[in-house]
Amino acid sequence: MAPRKLAAGNWKMNGDLAALDQIAMIGDAGASCDVLICPPAPLLVPMIAGAGPVKIGAQDCHAEDAGAHTGDISAVLLRDLGASHVIVGHSERRADHAETDAMVCAKAAAAHRAGLVAIICLGETEAERDDGRTLDVIATQLAGSLPEGATAANSVIAYEPVWAIGTGRTPSLDQIAEVHALLRDRLVARLADGADVALLYGGSVKPGNATEIFAVPHVDGALVGGASLKAADFIPIIAALD
Ligand code: G3H
Repeated sequence: MAPRKLAAGNWKMNGDLAALDQIAMIGDAGASCDVLICPPAPLLVPMIAGAGPVKIGAQDCHAEDAGAHTGDISAVLLRDLGASHVIVGHSERRADHAETDAMVCAKAAAAHRAGLVAIICLGETEAERDDGRTLDVIATQLAGSLPEGATAANSVIAYEPVWAIGTGRTPSLDQIAEVHALLRDRLVARLADGADVALLYGGSVKPGNATEIFAVPHVDGALVGGASLKAADFIPIIAALD
């Protein structure tokens, strides 16, 4: 079994009810790879209702299944609503909410208990890359963020260099290849089906660079921010993966 290809869109804190028609347009494009949109939480229910072939996921979940955590959302509820995936450990949450690898690991475990696929995000800062520490940082984040019980069926890894997110800058193809090869090696060493875990690249993926990025070994798809907000931008990215 090869990793399933996945084109995932992370809308972050963007989008509104009027944006629901973008989902219909993306679904109508008829991709054969998996296509996922992760909207802001209040849009999950209406989006799931009109998603068609597009999978709908969340951008975060709590590590516990229920309890007194005002403003948080459990993986159990996300699954109950019909979500298929949840992003955990996005660098914006690691930075804005001081999420550690241990917290990300606990959230991924909660996602697994609930029956969701966890998209576990990893990525180095620009200072870490400049210091030559990228591979160490990524290996440490993977080791600390991937929970026991992870499999190719319940986990996706997204490599997102922090400095490439929303900047229009991307690593070289060789730099992406180096990190994805490391991720594959570590997953194969740790999981029985590590060769089948989908590895996404994220950070300034656009229609103009998607084809070359998807040709990099062990790149099984993308986690796309800005270019996933409009069907006209996201559909060519999906087509490049398909
Ligand atoms: O989750 C998505 C990433 O943060 C990438 O965002 O495509 O806007 O650079 P971007």
